[in-house]
Order: sequence, then C-alpha cells, then structure tokens
Amino acid sequence: MTGLTTNLWPHSAHLDHDGEIYVGGLRLSALATAYGTPAVILDEADVRHRCRCYLAAFPGAEIAYASKAFLCRAMAQWIAQEGLSLDVCSAGELAVAWSVNFPAGRILMHGNAKTPEDLQAAFRYGVGRIVVDSVPEIIRLATQSPAAARQRVLIRVTPGVDAHAHQAVATGVEDQKFGFSLSSGAAADAVDRVLAHPELTLAGLHCHLGSQLTDAAAYEVAATKLIGLMAAVRDRAGVAMAELNLGGGHAVPYVAGDADFDLAGFADRISRAVTTECARLRLPVPRLTLEPGRAIVNRAMVTLYRVLTIKRAASGRTFVAVDGGMSDNPRPELYGARYSVHAVRPSHAPLEPVTVVGRHCEAGDVLAADVPLPADIRPGDLLAVPGTGAYTQSMASNYNLVGRPPVIAVRDGAARLLVRRETTRDLLVRDIGM
Ligand code: LLP
Repeated sequence: MTGLTTNLWPHSAHLDHDGEIYVGGLRLSALATAYGTPAVILDEADVRHRCRCYLAAFPGAEIAYASKAFLCRAMAQWIAQEGLSLDVCSAGELAVAWSVNFPAGRILMHGNAKTPEDLQAAFRYGVGRIVVDSVPEIIRLATQSPAAARQRVLIRVTPGVDAHAHQAVATGVEDQKFGFSLSSGAAADAVDRVLAHPELTLAGLHCHLGSQLTDAAAYEVAATKLIGLMAAVRDRAGVAMAELNLGGGHAVPYVAGDADFDLAGFADRISRAVTTECARLRLPVPRLTLEPGRAIVNRAMVTLYRVLTIKRAASGRTFVAVDGGMSDNPRPELYGARYSVHAVRPSHAPLEPVTVVGRHCEAGDVLAADVPLPADIRPGDLLAVPGTGAYTQSMASNYNLVGRPPVIAVRDGAARLLVRRETTRDLLVRDIGM
C-alpha cells in the first residue's frame, strides 16, 4: 500500500492507481458524498481480523472486548460472533449487548461506582461476572443478587505497578480510585469478605494497568503479584481461584513511526510468566482473560471531515478548519493524543505543515498540529483521519450543540449505516421544560 502508512489504516484500506483511498472496497470520497461529513467509516473486516489475532495469540484464554472503546449493536454482534467476551461498565453498555442477545455468561461488568441501575441490569441479565471494586459493593452484591444464582465475582486489585501510562489512564498505581490495594492488604481483606458471603462465588482476580501501554514487563510483574495473592488465599483459606484477568491497555500506532504492539511476543511472555509463577507456587494455572478495547477497534475507523476554512495566522501557521472537532474526538485535548491526517483528493502539490482544527469555540480545539498536507488544500476538500475507532465516538459530546456523526460500516464494497447522524431535532428532544 504505497502512500498510506499501513499500520495506521484499516486492514482493507488501499490507495488506488487513481490516487483515491478505498476502505472496505469503497472510495472515501464517495462515502462522504453519500453520508455527508463528518462521518465515521468502520471497517468490519478489520474488527474481525483483530479479534482473530487475539484468539490465535492466546489459545485457551478469554478475550473480552472492552466496549467502552466503542460500542453499537453491530459491534456487539461481531464480537459475539467472533467468540470474544464483553466488558461493560454501565447499564447502557449492557443494554446494547442485551439488544443483540450477547451471551450473558460472557459478559463482565466493571466500574468503581456501579449505580443501583447498573447492578439491577447486571442481575436481570445474569452477567457472568461482576468485578468488585469496593467494600460497599461487596455488601450490595451479597444482599441484592438473586438468591437462585451465586453471583461470580472477580476482585479488582491495584497491584502497585507503574506501566508508564498517561496520568489520566494510569490505573495500576497506588493512590487512585480503582481497586483494592495489594500492598496495604485491602485486596486480601476483600477476598475474605467475598468468601464470607455464600451468595457470592470468588472466580478470580483482576487488574488493569492503564492504556496505550507498550511494556510487557509491567504485565509480567502484575501477573506475578496477583498469582502471589492467589497462592496466599489457597494456603490460608483453601480456595482456588479459576480466573486471572490482566485487563487491557495494549498500545496501537497513531502516527507514522509508532511501533506495532508485538502481540505474539506479549502473549508468549505473559503465558510464560503465569505458568512459571504458578509452577513455583504449585498453583493450578488459572484461565487468563485479557480485555483489549483500543487494540480491537482503533484501526478499524477513519473519520472524514470537510475543510471549511483555511487561515494563515500572523505567526505564519496555517490553520485548516474542518466541520467536526473536539465534539467527535476529544482525545487530542484530553490526552495530548496525536493523529495523522490525509487529504482525500489526489494532489501533486508539495506537502507543507498545517494545523488541523475543529469548529468549536475553544482555541484548544486542535485535531492535529503541524501535520503535512498538500499546499493546494482548499475549502471543500475532504480530510481523512485514520485510527479514530477507540474512545472517540464513545467519548463524543454535543458541545456547542453539534450533533454527533454517523457510523457507517463498510465491507466487501458495500456500506451500511450503523448509527445515524444526530440531528438538531435529536438535540431538542430531551429539552422538555420551558
Ligand atoms: N479493562 C478495563 C477494566 C478498563 O478500564 C479498560 C479501559 C480496558 C480494559 C481497555 O483498555 P484499552 O485496551 O482500550 O486501552 N479514554 C482513554 C482511555 C481510557 C481507558 C479506560 N479503561 C483514551 O482515550 O485514551
């Protein structure tokens, strides 16, 4: 694939001899004409491919897609069909899974502060496991879960491992809202509390170290620590835990030069670390669960924007303003995330650095700073931003009362609308007081 940095684009993307970018067998320019902009193109084959890569890399393990990265009904269906499990963290995410009859036993519910509605929905649907995150929650689960079924739970452990994540998503370190600290003894205490409740079954331990991580060593350390707690529980209470859930967080490339996550190497190191430590402690090897979100969906999506204005500032910087921005992708502003931007119209003009900005009323509404675009870029041109699948639509807002873009699935030369564009009428529907 000349001209496109292969590892940033969906599996099916290619640059044709006519200079047009195709995804799922369709021209991006034609998709923009058909569906308007901004629009999010989702390559179904790419999602399915990533699911299969995980299953192949971790035979025997459970792969649970972290639906917070992006969820809609079609996505839930693909995940179910590919044989993955699903991590949800609200009654809303669960409702989407429910609407496609996602197998309940393959659903895990997360959350540091699950609401009564979240828990009631989890009980009603009979989710396979609830990942407990606090003492009050253990009591709620024991007293509220239906008497007929012993609710299987995992305990979320804070292992005290710094995996060098962005501060906003560093969840393995102490002094934060998630989990039970291992070093303080809170995790061991949570184990005892769960074991004391006959309404609950202790299925295993969970940790999630953070996001956009590249360091397999951090996962090895965390796995070793959690297995240590499992062995201690076995020695103290005679209880064997069946599951070891190491969360998600596997990095994806966003801009040219970003390395690919070595999934096979990672799988090898983690499996080895788990078996070695279990052998050392004479513990049966628990079933491993991994919860990738970003790694499954990020590369499957491309966002299409139309250029509205171009302005050269007194500083000499060229601002290219598009018809979306921080309402459909808040990640640059929230995490300093970087994206690559491509002009869709074929051009032989030399590349020059520009800053692509959104339409919102903030100077910080910058989608990508200092990215190279053809010097003849003009209003009306289309821009494509690959790698926008994870935590963009799921974190999108209606800032400035701008409707959220549609999500269009492409596959084998056919497109179908999965999530329609949000209209002004949609925005007014909730506004019922006067
Ligand atoms: N499991 C748990 C318990 C999680 O909290 C998360 C993400 C995942 C799995 C999936 O992590 P992933 O593989 O997608 O990195 N909004 C931020 C990311 C927040 C991640 C929250 N938890 C961003 O846009 O970078």
